[in-house]
Amino acid sequence: MYRSHTCGELRLSDEGKTVTLSGWVHRRRDHGGIIFIDLRDRYGFTQIVFDPKVNEKSWKVADTVRPEFVLKVKGEVRKRIEGQDNKNIETGEVEIYINEIEILNKSKTPPFEIDQEKPVNEELRLKYRYLDLRHDRMRDNIIMRHKLIKGIRDFLDKEKFLEIETPILIKGTPEGSREYLVPSRLYPGKFFVLPQSPQQLKQLLMIGGFDKYFQIARCFRDEDQRGDRQPEFTQLDLEMSFVDEKQIMSINERLLVKLTKELVPDKKIQKIPFPVMTWHEAMSRYGSDKPDIRFEMEMMDISDIVSKSDFKVFSGTVKSGGVVKALKVEGASEWSRSELDKLEELAKVYGAKGLAYFVYKENEIKSPILKFLKDEEVKEITEVAGAKTGDIIFFVADQFNTACEVLGQVRLYCGEKLKLMDENTFAYLWVNQFPMFEFEKETGQMSAMHHPFTRPMDEDMDVLDSDPIQARAIAYDIILNGNEIGGGSIRIHEQELQQQIFNILKISPEDAELRFGHMLEAFSYGAPPHGGIAWGLDRLVMLFAGEKNIREVIAFPKDQKAKDLVLGAPSEMPEKELKEANVKVINT
Ligand code: AMO
Ligand code: AMP
Repeated sequence: MYRSHTCGELRLSDEGKTVTLSGWVHRRRDHGGIIFIDLRDRYGFTQIVFDPKVNEKSWKVADTVRPEFVLKVKGEVRKRIEGQDNKNIETGEVEIYINEIEILNKSKTPPFEIDQEKPVNEELRLKYRYLDLRHDRMRDNIIMRHKLIKGIRDFLDKEKFLEIETPILIKGTPEGSREYLVPSRLYPGKFFVLPQSPQQLKQLLMIGGFDKYFQIARCFRDEDQRGDRQPEFTQLDLEMSFVDEKQIMSINERLLVKLTKELVPDKKIQKIPFPVMTWHEAMSRYGSDKPDIRFEMEMMDISDIVSKSDFKVFSGTVKSGGVVKALKVEGASEWSRSELDKLEELAKVYGAKGLAYFVYKENEIKSPILKFLKDEEVKEITEVAGAKTGDIIFFVADQFNTACEVLGQVRLYCGEKLKLMDENTFAYLWVNQFPMFEFEKETGQMSAMHHPFTRPMDEDMDVLDSDPIQARAIAYDIILNGNEIGGGSIRIHEQELQQQIFNILKISPEDAELRFGHMLEAFSYGAPPHGGIAWGLDRLVMLFAGEKNIREVIAFPKDQKAKDLVLGAPSEMPEKELKEANVKVINT
């Protein structure tokens, strides 16, 4: 038997018992010839004591152990002497006097310390992930992940959802990313594709009559890495039949509230029911389709005020169908010129042509554009914004999307700089009525903003053919503190409408048949009205765990270059295996 108790279990009430523990040497201290070791396992720490007067043989062995050795020890639970209690750990009132020790395994000196949370190069952490996972913080993150998933399963089970697995080797499903391909051995020249999401399969499950489905689903997207993205990530994927948008929002909201209250009780949910805002309103007021509404600082539209201005940057933009947006930032008037220049550079990175501003100093406004504006214009802007000494107003003139997005980034930058985002608030928000389509930046082609199975709003059916870019979708995202933690839509369930959307997307009937023929056919056998959502589970765990990067909440994440550093993947394959898979490598 390796242990009678775990390292987090013993209390004063166990005094006098003989116990056996197994675990890792966390820290070792020598005091007056006595050796103290903090023995660690997943459950906690226990102080074990080697006194030559109690057992000299064990003491001698203990003298040879080093950090991260694995030990099995047997001894007697004693109350710690007065004043030696450790209030920080649950076993802090006791210690074990050891009279038997066995070294179960030795350890080389780890490449970084386990007994301290020091900043360590991430590459090293990922290469030795199994050691990194020994840190309390990583252990707690993984436990948080487990609890969140368990909470989801318990809740959805009670709500009569069925957890159904869908295949990983499938045909492409469009979510807008590049796909991972798997060559087929049996069918040379043919490929499986790893799912970007179970989207089509969950819709087919609705057609199969399952009514309420969910899955903790692994998704694969070969896209550029960022802090909130992984090539392989996990969704809570969910679909329901005979529902409308409100019902989907409601069940998700109840689940999120329950999880928040149970797992992060210290966080205050800003508003229940969660606010709902249209995409247009979110862009217009916050310059983002995922606004952080923990702080106000809303944007204004001053196009009307400056539409006839002599300052052509403003009036010209309005004339050409654009807008002039303004953002008032309180308490920023002392920011230095170089800080404002830096902010203008940031605005340009996001596509702005410039960033104009008024700085409200005592009795005067400082601004590089003041000389171009009439006094009445300045006065009206000041009044509309309610600006006063100490404030800055920033301006961006551009087409609606660019002007909003740029000023939205300026807003976030200022919010962070002025520390306006309360760490203890959870501001959930629904954003809905997304545009059905958008123009892709690189190709200028129209694509589905969510995915091509998303249903247009009833009110907008008639613009689908005449002016499709105006059509809005019954699509919704769930936002938490400025992070998109999930997105979904009500789907198309009629073959004709689906075909119409493919036409608008310029997917030819032949191509549609080739790629989505199975969906079109399935819709012709009595597909029920249905809809759903998928949460980015890694992102939610990240926010629950108070982390800034999803790699911190995934046991074995890919690094920033999409590599698995523990296993060393991707890797070359022996010629024989390549041949079997019908693969010829070019451009190595
Ligand atoms: P979508 O593509 O919006 O929708 O994805 C849903 C949620 O998944 C998360 N997410 C990611 N998380 C980590 N790494 C990534 N690379 C990544 N990409 C997306 C986000 C996002 O909100 N099938 C639809 C859902 C539906 O319509 O029901 C879908 O996948 O948090
Ligand atoms: P310019 O005439 O280009 O030197 O610009 C004069 C001022 O207007 C500078 O402070 C620019 O940052 C600002 N500016 C230029 N273009 C824009 C724009 N599209 N929106 C907001 N400010 C701008």
